Amino acid sequence: MSDKAKLNFDNNEYEFQVIVGSEKEKAIDVSSLRSEANLITIDPGFKNTGSCRSSITFLDGEKGILRYRGYSIEDLAENASFLEVAFLLIYGQLPNESELNKFLDDINENSIVDEDLKKILESFPKSAHPMGILSSLTSALIAFNPEKKISLNNSYNSDHDLMYNSIVKLLAKIPILVAWVHRRRKGLPLEYGDYNLGYVDNITKMMFQLPNQDYVKNNVIVNAMNKLLILHADHEQNCSTSTVRIVGSSEASLFASVSAGISALWGRLHGGANQAVLEMLEAIKNDGGDTKKFMVKAKDKNDPFRLMGFGHRVYKNFDPRARIIKKAAHDVLKDLGIDDPILKIAKSLEKEALNDPYFTSRKLYPNVDFYSGIIYKALKIPKEMFTVMFALGRVPGWIAHWREMRMNNDPIGRPRQVYTGENRRSFVPINKR
Ligand code: CMC
Repeated sequence: MSDKAKLNFDNNEYEFQVIVGSEKEKAIDVSSLRSEANLITIDPGFKNTGSCRSSITFLDGEKGILRYRGYSIEDLAENASFLEVAFLLIYGQLPNESELNKFLDDINENSIVDEDLKKILESFPKSAHPMGILSSLTSALIAFNPEKKISLNNSYNSDHDLMYNSIVKLLAKIPILVAWVHRRRKGLPLEYGDYNLGYVDNITKMMFQLPNQDYVKNNVIVNAMNKLLILHADHEQNCSTSTVRIVGSSEASLFASVSAGISALWGRLHGGANQAVLEMLEAIKNDGGDTKKFMVKAKDKNDPFRLMGFGHRVYKNFDPRARIIKKAAHDVLKDLGIDDPILKIAKSLEKEALNDPYFTSRKLYPNVDFYSGIIYKALKIPKEMFTVMFALGRVPGWIAHWREMRMNNDPIGRPRQVYTGENRRSFVPINKR
């Protein structure tokens, strides 16, 4: 196989290096295209553009494979804790027991937020969407935790300490913010956790403990949360992660970059799909449960309705996370003794879509968000909070990519464009227009 790609243009031939990844995927390095041929590439939505080299997550959309640092998502979701996965994503290796204990201790040491953040939270209208609040509070954290400028060209150790401190601070504070956003919606007092508990156990305590009641761990809930958070932890260069990397590439801080990532995740074509799926399933139920009627709407190009939770930019086969979540949804409902008609509607929509040429020819399969809302609903998490739960899970992935981008000294992200506006023209005074 040649390691060069050739381009013939305007009677000239240009050669470009072909880069091969560790899973043998190939990419043409076009970075010299402009200087050599005065050309740029155009690819709206970056559908076929690699923005970086990354050793964090491998995804094969055709085969339905997802691996974090080489470990299959199935293996991790079945056997690992979310904090182990966070460490793995950020630092590249599974932690041993003492590394994991130290990581948790360092997180716990930072598990406090400035009391003034409560005032900011309380100043939001009750109707504010939790994703907007979370993004704002994450950004506000910067004011209370000013970061020293990390410049990896200076003293290696002190810069790595600064980076480590930012990472454990963020992993400590985001769960508190998530729990507080949830508790405020419910009218519950804003409290801290119990740092003798595990990371996920403590998150469930912070979210669900009622006043004047002891916290009793419910293994079904903690295990379901652990699995969902792992499944959401990273997904390579998606919209929000690319946002985090591009914001961070300007040397904006970790908190600022993650705050931007939260905003990018919010939309219903990305993380917001989990809320949209549940709203869609409820609408179908309230309309009498005729799934076929909604299938017709989803296929009608004149109807804006889309089957939420279906389709994916990179998976052209089953989303491996959806398989795991479908089973988990079934198990959680059974273990909690819940009989939710919404699950039945979801299953029949899935069955119809998987047998419909519109969906099969476009390779539209259920994605991670199709069943996750059913689990969150069973855990009594309101649907406006679903995308916040996704964000909570995605934080380690965002951190890992921000860190990788800084460690690799990646250049500032700055795409080009093909200008399609007016050519040069002269200003016309207002009285002559
Ligand atoms: N329902 C009906 N038709 C669809 C759907 C859908 N959910 N998704 C894609 N299509 C059609 C689309 O109309 C187009 O048809 P045609 O070729 O005739 O014009 C074709 O399939 C390709 O779609 P696209 O919008 O060009 O594909 P994309 O890669 O730009 O978009 C997507 C991917 C995920 C935004 C899209 O499939 C979608 O809107 N899905 C519903 C929202 C959703 O579930 N998002 C969550 C994604 S997973 C969570 C995450 O990691 O973000």
